[in-house]
Amino acid sequence: MKFYITTPIYYVNDTPHIGHAYTTIAADVIARFKRMFGYNVFFLTGTDEHGKKIEKAAQEKGMSPKELADITHQRFKELWKVLNISYDKFIRTTDPEHEQAVREFWQKIKGSIYKSKYKGWYCIPCETFVSQTQAEDNCPTCGRKLEFLEEDSYFLSVSKYKEEVRKYLEQDIVKPDFRKNEVINAIDDLQDISISRPRSRVMWGIPVPGDENFVIYVWFDALINYISAVGYPNKMEFWPADIHIVGKDIIKFHAIIWPIMLMAAGIELPKKIFAHGWWKVKGQKMSKSLKNVVDPFELAKVFGEDTIRFFLLREIPFGNDGDFSEELIIRRYESDLAKDTGNLFLRISKLAQNNFPGGVRRIQAPKFQDINIEALLDDWIAKMNDLDFFNALNILFQIISYANKYADIKAPWKLLRAGNNEEAEKVIYDLAYLIKIIIFMLLPFCPTISKTVAERFGIKIQNAKGENEMKKMILENYEIFKISSTGVLFPKIEG
Ligand code: MSP
Repeated sequence: MKFYITTPIYYVNDTPHIGHAYTTIAADVIARFKRMFGYNVFFLTGTDEHGKKIEKAAQEKGMSPKELADITHQRFKELWKVLNISYDKFIRTTDPEHEQAVREFWQKIKGSIYKSKYKGWYCIPCETFVSQTQAEDNCPTCGRKLEFLEEDSYFLSVSKYKEEVRKYLEQDIVKPDFRKNEVINAIDDLQDISISRPRSRVMWGIPVPGDENFVIYVWFDALINYISAVGYPNKMEFWPADIHIVGKDIIKFHAIIWPIMLMAAGIELPKKIFAHGWWKVKGQKMSKSLKNVVDPFELAKVFGEDTIRFFLLREIPFGNDGDFSEELIIRRYESDLAKDTGNLFLRISKLAQNNFPGGVRRIQAPKFQDINIEALLDDWIAKMNDLDFFNALNILFQIISYANKYADIKAPWKLLRAGNNEEAEKVIYDLAYLIKIIIFMLLPFCPTISKTVAERFGIKIQNAKGENEMKKMILENYEIFKISSTGVLFPKIEG
């Protein structure tokens, strides 16, 4: 029951923004979900610290690349703390173990490497080659200016792996499904990959073993993090990755180049690669020059980490692009969190505490009409396993909205006023039971608020040994719900 999940490693030329937070939050939600269900999870994230892009950024800031990396990687770690990211390892490509693993990997695939001349277009911000057909003036991915390079280089020969990659990708490796063909079609255009840079042009990188005049191409170096982090070249307990989560802009590196590198080294291939979409602002890419970069530290200060985690996965299907705005977050916060969820928790906890201070007892096991909780739970589990957060949250909100209606229709406050305490207790128990289910389903998304509410209601949260045990835990009919405190969960946003 091992589960290995990764995020891309982030470039350290600049501080993290909401796009980086997005990938990492998604990975965290899955890591938490899998842990709940009894998996031995290894969740990897980290920073990509070599290459021209970092070298240039450091130069502009008047420091060495290592100094810049030392500062910026810390910002990522701080953000992961703020956002409650439960990673197991944070790798830096300047870690000596990683550098050593990259050198060993190079040696291992030496038979597939040859030296020749590279001639063509290159985009420094993306650290990527652009084929002649795609290159007009600017990079097709980021729109920035390309450079023409003509230099000696080491190449990884790909021809003998093309068919193997095609077969690999024809299985359901790349998700969402609509990305599969895009990636398979790209195999035809694939040429041998330049995997080095002359030191005269790029200083900052791992030297090519046996040829100090060259450094290893930053993507070649970076991709190896996924195995160096789990022990390569020694035994790798967690490999192969169960899922690499990446942005759509870097899917080809992960679905084509990385598998070819692994094939050349005779290493097992990742089981799944999920490409998510982009967060834009008013339809435009976030960029420093447009001054539209969304700062996750600021957002977390205003809305709290749970709201950001929730918003990013609730607002758009994972895989699609989305448009980011504060108004949208406020709307989600006020309607989904404060009103539908928070108020439900509050009114039931207050009713219970005020009227049944000794606890709300189970008089009979809850039975609900018009809703099949167990079937919804099964569906939720399936959606979570597919990284379909959007529909997983829709299922959760079906239950939340059912619970709100149930409370309105059964109106336990009226029953209490009429002196019908037993009936009121039954209804409040039913609602506390629904809240328990809601809390388990909210837990991977909003761990802080879920834990607070769990404590208030005496909901026992533990990781299970497997799906059946977890389901039992979620559906269990407690004997009693004793509320320990009530209080505002989602305060009004000021300003
Ligand atoms: N260093 C490489 C990855 C190497 S992995 C072996 C890299 N780094 S990055 O910092 O530029 O981007 C990392 C991730 O952040 C990518 O998955 C990218 O898609 C994601 N995002 C960056 N901006 C984004 C948005 N505006 N929206 C959503 N995700 C985006 O690429």
